This record gives sequence, structure tokens and C-alpha cells, in this order.
Amino acid sequence: MVAIENTQIVLASRPVADIDPKTTFRVQKESLSGELGPNEILVKVLYISLDPAMRGWMRDVRSYIRPVRIDEVMRSADVAQVIKSNNTNYKVGELVRATCGWQEYAVLKPSEDLVKIKAFPGVSPSTYLGVLGMTGLTAYFGLYEVGEIVKKGGPNCTVVVSGAAGATGMVAAQIAKHVFGCRVIGIAGSPDKCDYLVKELGLDAALNYKSKTFFKDLCAVTPKLIDIFFDNTGGDILDACLRRIAFRGRIIVCGAISTYNDATPKGPAYYSALITQRARMEGFIVFDYAKQYGKAIEDMSQWIKEGKLQSRETIVHGIESAPDALVKLFKGENTGKMLVKVAEEDTRSRL
Ligand SMILES: NC(=O)c1ccc[n+]([C@@H]2O[C@H](COP(=O)([O-])OP(=O)(O)OC[C@H]3O[C@@H](n4cnc5c(N)ncnc54)[C@H](OP(=O)(O)O)[C@@H]3O)[C@@H](O)[C@H]2O)c1
Repeated sequence: MVAIENTQIVLASRPVADIDPKTTFRVQKESLSGELGPNEILVKVLYISLDPAMRGWMRDVRSYIRPVRIDEVMRSADVAQVIKSNNTNYKVGELVRATCGWQEYAVLKPSEDLVKIKAFPGVSPSTYLGVLGMTGLTAYFGLYEVGEIVKKGGPNCTVVVSGAAGATGMVAAQIAKHVFGCRVIGIAGSPDKCDYLVKELGLDAALNYKSKTFFKDLCAVTPKLIDIFFDNTGGDILDACLRRIAFRGRIIVCGAISTYNDATPKGPAYYSALITQRARMEGFIVFDYAKQYGKAIEDMSQWIKEGKLQSRETIVHGIESAPDALVKLFKGENTGKMLVKVAEEDTRSRL
């Protein structure tokens, strides 16, 4: 095999506040011989998942995962295609989900992190990073395990989802609405996104959190208060929903993107509502439910087939567009899952 030139993007410095794509990252090239050790496989990255969590991985602080090191390839979940294999379990042409990072090629060894994709007809490989990937799973387990939607769901249950037009939020909102029949209100950052939530995803209402009348609007659409709040944003939106939380309401603390770039984040002002309303606010990390991913993917695949779950993606092209695209995620320039398409799948060799 001739040597392969591999473009990689590494973390060059740790941002203190907003990410500056030019100084935070550096592009470098390496030459891969294509020689593989025992059980190794060589993969070509097709899609890179861009996630708000990446901002946390750049901080040198205690977290659920170690920080990305300076000069290390930026970490990401990816869908890739096997192009050479020294492992009988992975055949050339097969698709895998793995943490390859921001690079065009990777040499991988079998690990918990390397998962074969059982692609079904009509579903793009990119779906395995979105609705059927980490963000879809986050929505599923947040609702089931933290929100206790099986117990609470139904037409009398009001669910509010922040970041509702994003990758995780759009799945959470659709499951609550179309699987559990709840009254669902989405919160997003533009009139277009609000239209999308109501007209295309069929939510009961959608509110623009940037509107001056946001809190008044929230009160108007939650006359029976909020039973489950699926929070992706934290900050002022969390505070507004704390003020509307129902007796024994649940706040699923999925993410807090509004605070990730803050050098010194501030806490919620209205958390005492948890006391007065005997409500519960609980964080979780999707990886805790890894053993149950199979069942969740089965359920969600079925909901896609039944038309209960739609997928939406914002795709940018080329490995070198990853740094700018990550910044766009923080500016709300995505609807649905934000992805970088690095290469086309070779369908001729797919088994
Ligand atoms: N707990 C877990 O295991 C887990 C797993 C995956 C993701 N998460 C978290 O879930 C959240 C959503 O992640 P995602 O991957 O699905 O991303 P995403 O929602 O697809 O993209 C981020 C969205 O956040 C919104 N946003 C950005 N800045 C904001 C601000 N200051 N205030 C309010 N909204 C803001 C933007 O939408 P607008 O245009 O609406 O502002 C943007 O499109 C993140 O907080 C992430 O960290 C948690």
C-alpha cells in the first residue's frame, strides 16, 4: 500500500472564553505507511460529529473524560469506513463508529469505543452520529432515566425542551410529543427555528428565547406549569423554567451551552423553586447507559420507520472547516445535528 497523507487538526491552545479557530487549533499533515499491527484496522473518516461538549474537553479541569492535550488531535466521535484490515471481525468496506478525532484517516484497535454500524437501507451513515448516535441516545436516556417519562408522560404532561432545534433537543422534543403524547413546547434562538419546530416537527408551541417577551410568552404557553424540562442550555432559560416548574417537576440537566464559553459561569438564581415545588434537577452523561444503547437504537429506528422521529442535519464539507463549524454551533448556525463531511462512502466495497 502506498503511503497516505493524513490531514489532522490538533488543539494548539486552551481558549479562556470564546474559541478563536485560528489560535485554538492547528492543521498538520502526517504520512501513514498503511502498515498495520496485529488486529489493527485502517479507517477513512466519513463524518465528524461536532459537539458543544468539545468546549469542555479543551479545559484542563476535572470532568467525566480527560481533557484533550495540547498538540493532540482534537477528539471527536466519527463514522468511518474500513479501508484495510488485519482483524477478521472488521472487513474492508464496513462502517464503524469510533473516536478517530479531527483527521482524515485513523489506525484503530478493537475497543469498547469501536462499534460496527448495522446500516439499514435508506439511512445515511451520518444518522449514526445524530438521531441514532450520541445525541439521539442522550435525548432518549435523558427522558427515560432522568425525566421518568414512562411514568409522567401523556397528554396531561407539559414538557419544555431548550435547544429544541438542535441535535439533542429535536429528538427529545419529538419523543415526548410523538411517542409519549405530551404537550411539548420547544425553545430556540430564531423565528425560523421556531417555525421548524411547530410546522415540521409538530410541537404544540415554540418560543424564541431572544424575544423581549420570552418569559411572558413562556407563562402563556405553560398554564399548567412545566412537568418535565429537558435543558440543553442552562443560564437565563433555565431560570425562566425554574420559575414555571410544576409540583414534583423534573429538570433534566443535559447541557448548559449558554455557559460553556464563560470564564466564570454564574449559577441559577431561582433554584429555590426546587424546594418550594419539591422538584428535582438531575444531571447525567449518556455514556452511563452504554449497555442499553442497543435497545434504544432499536426503538428509535422503529420510530423513524413509523414517521415519529425525523432527522435533520447541518453539514459542512472538508476536514479543515471543523474549527469554524464548531464556533458556528455556539452561534446557533446549525439546525439539527452539526457534522463535517470528510469523505464520500465507497459503496462499491460495502458488504
Ligand atoms: N449529558 C450528556 O451526556 C450530553 C450529551 C450530548 C450533548 N449534551 C449537551 O446537550 C446540549 C445540546 O448539544 P447538541 O450536540 O445537541 O448541540 P445542538 O443543540 O445541536 O447545538 C447547539 C445549539 O445551542 C444553542 N445555543 C448556543 N448558544 C446558546 C446560548 N447562549 N443560549 C441558548 N442556546 C444556545 C444554539 O441554538 P439556538 O439557535 O436555539 O440558540 C445551537 O444551535 C449541549 O449543552 C451539550 O453539551 C449533553
